[in-house]
Amino acid sequence: MSTSITTDIAFCQKLLKTGELVAIPTETVYGLAANIMDAKAIKSIFEMKGRPMFNPLIVHIHSLEQLPLLVKDVPENALRLAEAFWPGSLTLILPKTEEVADTITAGKATVGIRMPNHPVTLGLLRGLPFPIAAPSANPSTRVSPTSAEHVASYFGTKIPAILDGGPCQVGLESTIVGFEGETPIIYRKGGISVEAIEAIAGKVQLITKEDKAPLAPGMLLKHYSPKTKLVLSNSVTTTLKNYTNFKIGVISFSTDYKNVSIVRKLSQKGDLGEAAKNLFSTLHELDQMDLDFIIAERFPEEGLGTTINDRLQRAAY
Ligand code: TXA
Ligand code: MG
Repeated sequence: MSTSITTDIAFCQKLLKTGELVAIPTETVYGLAANIMDAKAIKSIFEMKGRPMFNPLIVHIHSLEQLPLLVKDVPENALRLAEAFWPGSLTLILPKTEEVADTITAGKATVGIRMPNHPVTLGLLRGLPFPIAAPSANPSTRVSPTSAEHVASYFGTKIPAILDGGPCQVGLESTIVGFEGETPIIYRKGGISVEAIEAIAGKVQLITKEDKAPLAPGMLLKHYSPKTKLVLSNSVTTTLKNYTNFKIGVISFSTDYKNVSIVRKLSQKGDLGEAAKNLFSTLHELDQMDLDFIIAERFPEEGLGTTINDRLQRAAY
């Protein structure tokens, strides 16, 4: 099969209606989408990604009116967060209705729901009589794609179409929030900071990365991995002294490291949002360069810096 990288929404709607997989753009990362009502198509998402069946999928919607079909007993705080951040980089974990198949939720009684903030995919969703399930469009454990080209490099001959919506503007996966009563529980740090969630819904609880049996398998320790070994460093200058005889690429926030030939600054002006947007594409780029090691600087532990550190830590595992 040869994949068409296309901007033809109607073509992609037709494919989804006939049970095919289509890669879709979102503001976070590209997703690998299928009709949630089509059991065979859902199964092929897992096969395509090499994803274990115990790892549930996120359902994508375009309107709050679709919620009652999918979820019940929605906490007040969930509605508040949806109102504040949808469409946007927030996934809510809520009790599912009968309509949502167990294959999507990996047998869980809850389902993850997100309204993505991308005009192309919102347009796609509006013309479909069903919501779509979409995990990130990468093979399991690999770095998420933030452009149509990244998706093509992973699945180039295996899916019929990649809907091209340009480079992802947030560049980190959605923040996943569940609830115990009204208390928000952060299952995965993401494109909306913990601080921003707390400003709307009050103090959150974090599921920590040390958790051995994570509730969200996206919290698995090895994840988001480039093929090249990645070292996360508190002091790049010190770490470089231990790697003098190797071909090194450095990922820095906004510092120049003058004595290294390959340095990628994620933000000229020290802006965490800009750095987040560039993180995965930089990992993809450096991973193509035949380096011995990637050395990444630890980011400030605040706002999206916390999410960037989370991804770098898993990439380094
Ligand atoms: O930004 C995103 O969320 C992207 C775009 C495409 O929307 N999607 C994404 O999907 O990152 P995926 O499948 O790569 O990661 C979804 C994460 C997984 O770690 C999964 O375990 C967790 O969400 N998840 C899904 N449903 C869940 C549930 N019912 N309870 C707990 N965790 C859940
Ligand atoms: Mg993923």
